[in-house]
Formats: sequence, structure tokens, C-alpha cells
Amino acid sequence: MSRLAQATIHLDALRHNLSVVRSTAPTSHVMAVLKANAYGHGLLPVAHELAPDVDAFAVSCLEEALPLRMAGLNGRIVLLEGFFAAEEIMTFSRHHLDAVIHQPWQIEALAQAPIKSPIDCWLKVDTGMGRLGFLPNDALAAAEQLQRLEGVASVRWMTHLANADEPESTQTDEQLERLSRVLDSTHQASVANSAGTLQWPESHVDWVRPGIMLYGSSPFAWPSPDAALQPAMTLEAELISVKTLAKGHGVGYGGRYICPQAMPVGVVSIGYGDGYPRHAPDGTPVGINGQRAQLIGKVSMDMLCVDLRDVPQAQPGDRVILWGADPVAGDIAQACQTISYELFCRLTPRVQRVYRRGYSNG
Ligand SMILES: Cc1ncc(COP(=O)(O)O)c(C=O)c1O
Repeated sequence: MSRLAQATIHLDALRHNLSVVRSTAPTSHVMAVLKANAYGHGLLPVAHELAPDVDAFAVSCLEEALPLRMAGLNGRIVLLEGFFAAEEIMTFSRHHLDAVIHQPWQIEALAQAPIKSPIDCWLKVDTGMGRLGFLPNDALAAAEQLQRLEGVASVRWMTHLANADEPESTQTDEQLERLSRVLDSTHQASVANSAGTLQWPESHVDWVRPGIMLYGSSPFAWPSPDAALQPAMTLEAELISVKTLAKGHGVGYGGRYICPQAMPVGVVSIGYGDGYPRHAPDGTPVGINGQRAQLIGKVSMDMLCVDLRDVPQAQPGDRVILWGADPVAGDIAQACQTISYELFCRLTPRVQRVYRRGYSNG
């Protein structure tokens, strides 16, 4: 390969992170969230790696669910927004896909569909997220309606936490309380995302639904101290140019960075055309030869520039870690005022995904 812009996916890290989920929520079933191309890590390779040890996968639409079925993955697959149109219901039935039900029209559509193989449903309850779901007062009636339908095989409950990454917030307790007021013990339920799994044991209940922690990134704004997650992706590129620029020389479009002294400046073979954030500020860390250097100047489509004063021995051809074990994606997210989820999801197809066993930062 000529131009190096590569995301190495560490399969062992995925499994390790799943084992962290298992040990953190030992009595819960695990629904691994694989939407958005497994958070940019690659839907099918991630699914194949995790399938033996998870109880279900969660995706957002048929376009994400059907490739899993076509690849021979026969386990439970939950579509987190259910069907988007009544015409999709027969596909759910034919491929044994679980539907999240969050709107009255979905119940009516289920009642009218000529379903041969009944569908497993998850009733979504909006306990405070203010996004999808029946409000708690309407949830019981909706569950009863669903249960009466011939096309429905089972009904489980689901809610989503809005603030589980905020340990000081009272909202998670309030959401759990609202759910417990309407949920009876005959129904299984799923509440916890990664932050709930790591931080709120009361939210584990029957099914946990971790996403980001499987990929080894913390759901918290700070590194999670005891989670021992391993980053599953190393995004790397190459130094393609090293030269000394004089004091006062501008770097990149618009000369956003002006060299404060004569200094070595490197050019790295990755840019916003690969999904690296264009708005990354000066000082965003990169890793070179086990040391940290700083991004300088505006990120270009195919390249970005780095200040090599802290790694003066760096040479063209040296590998540059944009994120991985150090810096972690969360460091870049923090510098760019976003979240690691977005960094992963925005990686473009131009970034080659390479799947490896054995964990290293290389
Ligand atoms: C409904 C639902 N459940 C679970 C998750 C997983 O969340 P996380 O990646 O924070 O673990 C998501 C992610 O956005 C979600 O939308």
C-alpha cells in the first residue's frame, strides 16, 4: 500500500473489553451495540469476533441487520428504532429480528401485518431521555396491547439513560425509579449503556447494552480508572516529510500556526478526507516513536502537520499514531470538543481497516 492511513482493529482487545462487561455485570445478558459499522470498527469482523460470547447484537436498521444474517450470524439481533415503515415488518419476521416498539403506529402496523413467524419486541419507555419511547404513564397499556397480538412472540422492556456518564447527576436514579414504577417482574428489561454498565450497577438488570466500552473507549469525560479497557482501534499514518522551518514561517492553510523559532516540522499522511477532525486545534497530541508530538496548523484533506521539537530524531517513514493506546481517542475528542464515538464513526472508507490478534500500540 502506498499511502498509509490505517485503522488496525485489535480483535483480542474487543474480546477483552467484552470480558470487562461480563465481569462488571455478571448476571446480565449482554447485547453488544454494533450500529454505525460497529462504531467505525467494521460490522462483520467485529460481529464474528464477539458472536460466540454475546447474547444479542443491537443495530439501528435493516441495512445493518441483514448483512449479519447473510454472514450466517443466527443469534438475536435487536433493531433499536424498530421498523421505520410497516413494509419492513415481514422482513423482521422472515429474518427473526427483534423490533424496538416506541410509537403507537408500530403497534397498529403489527396488528395488521400477516405475520407467520411472530416477532420478539422490546417496548421502549422514555423515562427521561426525551428521545424515543412511550412515556411511563402510557407504557403499561402499550405493553398489554402488544402482548395481545398474534404477531408478537414476546415483550421485553427497554429504556435509555441520558446522564449515566455524570456520576453527580440524580437523573439515572430518577429514570430507574420511573421504570420500576411501571415495570412488573414478569418482563425482562434493558437499561444500561456503557456508562450505566460501568458506573450504575442498579441499571444492569436483565440485559446490558454496551457500545463504546467494547471498543475500548471510556464513556466518561475522564479515563475510567478501574475499567481496564483496551483501545480496539489504532489509527496510524506515516511521516512523509520532515524539514526545518524558520522562525516566523506559517504552517498549513491560512498560516494558523506561526513557528516561534526555527523548528522541525513533520507532515503526516492523514487528513480530514480520512475522517481526522478538521477542527483539531494546535496542540492536539499525536504519538511518534513512543513519544508525543503536537499537531500544528489547519488539518488538510490528506495531510496534517506536527511540531517535531519533542521528537527531533523523527524521520520520514516513521509511524504516527493518531489515536490508540497513547494518545487515546478520548484525548483527541477532548482536544476537538467532541466524543470518541464521533471520531470513530467519521472515519472514511479511505482508511484501510486491518484486523489483528495480539494487542500492541504499534
Ligand atoms: C439505545 C442505545 N442503547 C445503547 C447504546 C450504547 O451506548 P454506549 O456506546 O454509550 O455504550 C446506544 C448508543 O448510542 C443507544 O442509542
